[in-house]
Amino acid sequence: MKKEKDILFDDSDEIMLPSTLAAIPSGLMNALYHQTKKIMGRMVDYKELRMIYACAMKEIKTKFEILNTDFSLQYHRNPINSIQTRLKSTASIIEKLVKMNKSVDIDSVSENIHDIAGVRVICSYIDDVYLVAEALLKQDDITLITRKDYIAEPKENGYRSLHLIVKVPVFLSERRLEMEVEVQLRTIAMDFWASLEHQLYYKTDFDGKGELVDELRRCAATINKTDVEMMLIRSKLEALSDVPSEEEILLERVRRLDTPIE
Ligand code: GTP
Ligand code: MG
Repeated sequence: MKKEKDILFDDSDEIMLPSTLAAIPSGLMNALYHQTKKIMGRMVDYKELRMIYACAMKEIKTKFEILNTDFSLQYHRNPINSIQTRLKSTASIIEKLVKMNKSVDIDSVSENIHDIAGVRVICSYIDDVYLVAEALLKQDDITLITRKDYIAEPKENGYRSLHLIVKVPVFLSERRLEMEVEVQLRTIAMDFWASLEHQLYYKTDFDGKGELVDELRRCAATINKTDVEMMLIRSKLEALSDVPSEEEILLERVRRLDTPIE
């Protein structure tokens, strides 16, 4: 005997009607049942798709964490300051599809939205941004889809960052899927600027908006100048360090043997 709560998930054609629905003609009830079953199926597919994007995001995050650990062992400094991840909300996905005039269905999501999985990598110095980006792109399971260098060519408002869309394989029990992930790489200073500018981005026109835009553009230029200067100072300091002898290098490596690995 089937329970009422099993109705939606039962494949057989024999439908047990809850008493309140018994008055509905059986033809209509059947149509309703099949429609609801379809919708539930789509919802499960969508939930699965989000889960797979979340896995892809994790893969990319782990790759950057491994690179950071390797760089710290090889060069005794961490090029990556922090890593943030985010999965685009369903509301934002729908909003973006509607704005793009695309259909709102599962196939359309993967086809038209390339930033469902997002990874932001914050570095201390500009050259580290390129160092870690190239180290990721060199990996043979990573496919570059698009690269936008807003550091070399800043946006009109002063926005600077290196944007990559990459594909990374996700291995499930039965399948291997290539998933897109958007990677944004920037310095701490660029990130500081972008988070403030982001607040202005969503404000509709108001008195004095133009001045704020100009002020932010000036700040972006100042920040960039400081970023470049800091990088040059670091290079000069590195050049000052004496070239260690082979014995010194070996001793240093022994000293570091027990450094905890994150
Ligand atoms: P989206 O449709 O917004 O994803 O933009 P797009 O497809 O033109 O891609 P683009 O690489 O230009 O921007 C992707 C993301 O970078 C945005 O979603 C923001 O998170 C960030 N971004 C781009 N431009 C700006 C900007 O001017 N200011 C700030 N604060 N963030 C930006
Ligand atoms: Mg986006």
